Amino acid sequence: MASRAVVTGVGHYLPERIVPNAEFEATLDTSDEWIRTRSGIERRHFAAKDETTSDLATRAAEAALKDAGLTGEDLDAIVLATSTADLTFPSAATMVQARLGMTKGFAFDVQAVCAGFVYALSNANALILSGQAKRVLVIGAETFSRIMDWTDRSTCVLFGDGAGALVLEALNGNGTADDRGILSTDLNSDGRYKDLLYVDGGVSTQSTGHLRMQGNQVFRHAVDKLAKTAETALDKAGLNSGDVDWIVPHQANIRIIQGTAKKMGLPMENVVVTVQDHGNTSAASIPLALSVGKERGQIKPGDLIVTEAIGGGLAWGAVVLRW
Ligand code: UT7
Repeated sequence: MASRAVVTGVGHYLPERIVPNAEFEATLDTSDEWIRTRSGIERRHFAAKDETTSDLATRAAEAALKDAGLTGEDLDAIVLATSTADLTFPSAATMVQARLGMTKGFAFDVQAVCAGFVYALSNANALILSGQAKRVLVIGAETFSRIMDWTDRSTCVLFGDGAGALVLEALNGNGTADDRGILSTDLNSDGRYKDLLYVDGGVSTQSTGHLRMQGNQVFRHAVDKLAKTAETALDKAGLNSGDVDWIVPHQANIRIIQGTAKKMGLPMENVVVTVQDHGNTSAASIPLALSVGKERGQIKPGDLIVTEAIGGGLAWGAVVLRW
């Protein structure tokens, strides 16, 4: 017998406002054609002025709890991945905790930018395997529209807002790769690459700042590092790409998603793709894709899933789980 962190609920929330690529043509030297062909993005959602990351996170959390048949009172912990929390402190996670009516346990944020959800899943898994929590809500939520430089066409057309959430529960498995739940994780970072993707402001430098990215440099790192971390995670679980039903990748660029799948020897039929509808929602993109993938009827109980993501840091990683 082995304890496993098993997904028992999933949900997401997207802000109402949908912005098609064409909207950028009015203010920037860009085109729907360029954005589609270079990134695969067709539209994204932007939060309303008074809508914050914890608002999106709470809506996604409520959907995931409903799916699991649980309430906030049933939870032991909340782990929320975000780089765009409402306030400098407290954490967005504790704000969600209050709104879910959860008065025990603990809640905290994880900040690993676009790799945030993979880091949060790995932390939640460790909490469950070490016996510190039995039911953990893992959320990815972002309002990247707040840190865009609207004059920089090379970044502002790529990102969107949204949130997704999973409920993980400790259930017994038999200790093999046939078990449901998280089977392995692989986390990496290399701070030498800070200048490739960062925000040029923060509390200690006394501003909010804007996202800055050397996109083509990040692209170069992405395909290699993502395929490698996915394969390492599969290897840790005693599996290989041939066992994978779904790659659920971070949704930054369709060409990165295609390149990674190709490197792993898997066809695009085995990949959940939402980048066309959401753009890059950073830490929210994987739980959004898991939720949409389930809604579309792609992801089914028992399916073997590998998630992978890379972002600012650079930080990257993968999680292998059986749905
Ligand atoms: O989620 C975190 C991780 N982030 C990523 O994974 C993003 C990784 N990078 C990418 O997705 C791609 O590199 C981009 C979509 C950002 C850019 O695609 P690219 O094929 O790497 O293009 P590039 O940066 O090499 O730029 C090619 C050209 C440049 O013009 P010149 O210098 O060749 O004349 C850019 O100025 O495209 C130009 N360009 C644009 N043109 C029209 C850049 N942005 C735009 C734009 N519209 N919005």
